[in-house]
Amino acid sequence: MALHFAKRITEYRLAKDLFTRGKDIILSPEAQVMKEFTQHGETTVFEHCIAVAKFSLLIAYFLERTLKIEVNKDSLVRGALLHDYFLYDWHVKGSAQGLHGFTHPRVAKENADRDFGLNDIERDIIAKHMFPLTPFLPMYRESVIVSLADKWCALAETFKIDVSSYIIYRVNFRIALANGDYSIDYGETLAEA
Ligand SMILES: [Fe+2]
Ligand SMILES: [Fe+2]
Repeated sequence: MALHFAKRITEYRLAKDLFTRGKDIILSPEAQVMKEFTQHGETTVFEHCIAVAKFSLLIAYFLERTLKIEVNKDSLVRGALLHDYFLYDWHVKGSAQGLHGFTHPRVAKENADRDFGLNDIERDIIAKHMFPLTPFLPMYRESVIVSLADKWCALAETFKIDVSSYIIYRVNFRIALANGDYSIDYGETLAEA
């Protein structure tokens, strides 16, 4: 039970960190459009990007605590949230420019730069996240982290391992707070803890 509680606290802090760094993107009408498109299995592109940002942060915490490697977590979160900001349904034939797997990093980067304005690290994260399928070497450690997190989340979503629902719950909770909606019942969370 104690372990379960510790996990919940970790998840809560993680969601808070994610939301603090990425709320401008998460709450924007532009990013909300990603909810309309399916990514893997039943996961929307929005949910996938939140999950990738979450796992990228987890990897960053690990690197910072154990190996004392510093990570730019603001750019890490922004790049992860926008890494699949290609804005079309890739399951529909003809919607991608060429082969989706190869072309969507460039499309996502151009869309994200247009709508949110990116720095060099964020541009690199998005453009290189499909490495090694696309043969462009990631130039920053943040790009390597997001690329690894993306592959793990894609596997988890395809094989229906539930890694994102909890973070989605927490992020939605923060969104509700930001919107002034305090009528959330989290008694279930307390009971389980
Ligand atoms: Fe992608
Ligand atoms: Fe992805």
